[in-house]
Amino acid sequence: MNIILLGPPGAGKGTQSARLVDHYGMRQLSTGDMLRAAVKAQTPVGIKAKEVMDRGELVSDEIVSDLIDAELAALDADTGVIFDGYPRTEAQAHSLDDLLAKHGRSLDHVIELDVDEDALVERITGRYTCAQCGAGYHDTFQQPATEGVCDKCGSTEFKRRPDDNEETVRTRMAEYRAKTAPILPVYESRGLVRRVDGMAAIEDVTNSLDAILG
Ligand code: AP5
Ligand code: MG
Repeated sequence: MNIILLGPPGAGKGTQSARLVDHYGMRQLSTGDMLRAAVKAQTPVGIKAKEVMDRGELVSDEIVSDLIDAELAALDADTGVIFDGYPRTEAQAHSLDDLLAKHGRSLDHVIELDVDEDALVERITGRYTCAQCGAGYHDTFQQPATEGVCDKCGSTEFKRRPDDNEETVRTRMAEYRAKTAPILPVYESRGLVRRVDGMAAIEDVTNSLDAILG
């Protein structure tokens, strides 16, 4: 099973991917996570990407498609993939078609998390992750069971993304509307699009995804 999770910043792509990984043993391929790792490691890609990401704009199609190509090449053919935050432009959607063919895969579903943009700024500005294992939390919507302690690994250190401020989020949303939303009709014409109510509680969104995948 290979799926794309599509939705604007804060729609819940990362949150739901983590659950699908746990439940189905799929692999999450998040270009955002890959780019943040490159920024942290100060690789040539990371150095190039940092300022673009801090502004909330999209990095070049070629960079992200190369990242995805490398990940697919290293992956066991039986492991299903969740594409999280990729493709994000028409050019990337074309590249993905080529990459899937190259690696002997095909798309099963393109799942759009349908959300109300007004709620997304609150979701994003309240988001934080475990500095140790990357588990995701939210000041209001997804707190650890014991305050200040990661549920998954017990770490007490957390971090916030530098692009999770209101101004950058507005740019990220505008980029989504202008460049990413237009790829939906392409998948629609292939009968691949499934819509899920991303405004429901986290658990309910997972249940809707299970109904599609299960
Ligand atoms: P990326 O990392 O992909 O960011 P994004 O698309 O802006 O999406 P987010 O990660 O912010 O949101 P999410 O949908 O994963 O939400 P989450 O589950 O965390 O990209 C970052 C940057 O990298 C881009 O701006 C660009 O510069 C670059 N980039 C990446 N990919 C690229 C590409 N393909 N091409 C070009 N450039 C690229 O949820 C958010 C919060 O809400 C969490 O705190 C969570 O706990 C909470 N939450 C989740 N679901 C719910 C719910 N149902 N109810 C209540 N709270 C919820
Ligand atoms: Mg994410």
